[in-house]
Amino acid sequence: MNNKPIIALDFPGEKEVFQFLNEFDEQLFVKVGMELYMQEGPDIVRKIKEEGHEIFLDLKLHDIPNTVKSAMKGLARLGVDLVNVHAAGGKQMMEAALEGLEEGTPVGKSRAALIAVTQLTSTTEEQMQREQRIDLSLIESVLHYAQLTKQAGLNGVVCSVHEARAIADVCGEDFLRVTPGIRMSGGAAHDQKRVATPDGARRDGSSLIVVGRAITEAADKRAAYKEVCELWEEK
Ligand code: C5P
Repeated sequence: MNNKPIIALDFPGEKEVFQFLNEFDEQLFVKVGMELYMQEGPDIVRKIKEEGHEIFLDLKLHDIPNTVKSAMKGLARLGVDLVNVHAAGGKQMMEAALEGLEEGTPVGKSRAALIAVTQLTSTTEEQMQREQRIDLSLIESVLHYAQLTKQAGLNGVVCSVHEARAIADVCGEDFLRVTPGIRMSGGAAHDQKRVATPDGARRDGSSLIVVGRAITEAADKRAAYKEVCELWEEK
């Protein structure tokens, strides 16, 4: 897996996905989320793979361990590069996900990296305490889930840039911190609350950034991607 910025392909269907991908002549690292996967199914993953792009399949699985294990086995056969589950599903569920991924990976292929969502970046501390009845601060809960994820043997977490450094301090530099909520300085924040620039994310401890609308809705998508790459690669 390389560390190119991951482009979130939040499009309604295959036509729009390939219209976008056809603007590029290089191989990209893209994210297929629930919206696209629910519309197009596993075929969209196969078709994007055939074009040589790397894929983060962002389905955030959360179910009983046996079900997650079987689902992961199936996803492993698609040859994706990065997949995820919810850490709230528990250590046993995360271990089962990893087993499924290992069992489903074709012989001779490398297993996808597996990461967990800690607290969604759309969840506020107040919501977490009132609705989930978690009597901790948000960062304490995120760090707890990150440690649980590490104990289960996973490769890292999805988190906000603002939590990335603390997670690296607790779980180690090799434990991936994959961060959405990336914007260019002066660009629209859209519905994201806590945003960071690509260079800010690098400085604050992200290992991989996920960028959607800052690229997909730009007038010149290639130029926007290039600018994100340059800022991200600057140390
Ligand atoms: O357009 P934007 O850059 O905000 O897209 C971010 C992508 O990352 C979206 O696909 C969104 O669903 C995803 N994401 C997120 N926050 C999380 C997990 C995933 O924004 N905690």
